[in-house]
This record gives sequence, C-alpha cells and structure tokens, in this order.
Amino acid sequence: MRPAPLALVFCLSLAGAAVAAGVSVKDEMKTVIAPAFSTISAVSVEVAQAHRPGAAKVPEARWHAAVLAAQALKRSARNLIGPQKEPGAVWTKSAHDFARLAAAAEAAAGKKDAAGFSTAADALGQTCATCHAKYKPKTGD
Ligand code: HEC
Repeated sequence: MRPAPLALVFCLSLAGAAVAAGVSVKDEMKTVIAPAFSTISAVSVEVAQAHRPGAAKVPEARWHAAVLAAQALKRSARNLIGPQKEPGAVWTKSAHDFARLAAAAEAAAGKKDAAGFSTAADALGQTCATCHAKYKPKTGD
C-alpha cells in the first residue's frame, strides 16, 4: 500500500508548515534561537579552554548538547528562509548564512572538530548582528 504512507507524509508536511507559519520572528528568536545559540557559545568557550595544555577534554554530553542546539537552529533557519522571510538582500543572505553555519556547527560538533566548531559558532554570531542591524527594531534590548 504505497499511496497511504505518501499521503500521510504530505499531510504531516502541511501541518508542519502551518505551525511554522504561526510562529513570529520575535518568538522564534526568544524561545529557540537565543537559547540554542547561547548553548553553542558556551560550548565554544569550553572547547577553547579545553585546548590549553593539561586541560580536561570537553565532555561527550556537551558536544551532544551542541549538536542538539545546532539542529534547533537549522529548524529555525528553515522558518527564517521560508514563512518568516522578510524582503531584502540582507535578510536573504543572513538567513542563508545562518542555515549554512548551523549545519556546519552541527557537523563539527558531531565530529568533535574543535576548530571547525569555533569557526562556525563565531560566524553564526555575525549573522545575528548583520540581520539585527537592519531588521530588528531599535528598542534597546
Ligand atoms: C535573518 C535575520 C535574523 C537573524 C539571522 C537573526 N535574527 Fe534575531 N531577530 C531578528 C528580528 C527581525 C528580530 C526582531 C523581532 C521583533 O521584535 O519583532 C530579532 C530579535 C531577536 C531577539 C530579541 C527577541 C525579543 O525578546 O524581542 C533575540 C534575543 C535574537 N533576535 C537573537 C538572535 C540570535 C542569538 C541570532 C543568531 C544566532 C539571531 N537572533 C539571528 C532577525 C534575525
């Protein structure tokens, strides 16, 4: 019975799109992106500290937390590129960079590649700043 599972997948993907479309950029930033990026930044600091001679290695659980956080950012990136997209070249570039770098951070954390992970984390932080400079209301937060 091939058609049934296909129809199910189609319905589920429609439901997913409807949910995503209902989440505002502000809520996505507050509830998903900020906490996930904060985990990524924290692990990035731990990775740098572990690099010092004699320092303990970054625990497996922290690399795993970084993988999960990067996966959350990847899901958010799909919203920033899709239903939450705003017009303009800066948005398009920041959102696509964000997607690419979230995937790079996930891959690096999965391999425990310290240098690759730190580079992706730093560059991810740049995408926040670039997009906010143009699109985030200047409310002082
Ligand atoms: C493609 C554009 C874009 C990118 C990339 C982006 N943001 Fe945002 N962000 C916004 C916009 C637009 C707002 C303002 C939303 C509003 O107030 O309606 C915002 C608001 C926020 C807020 C404030 C939410 C609040 O409470 O009002 C936080 C925190 C935030 N972003 C964190 C981040 C972090 C961390 C990153 C990078 C890891 C990031 N954002 C990347 C567009 C972006």
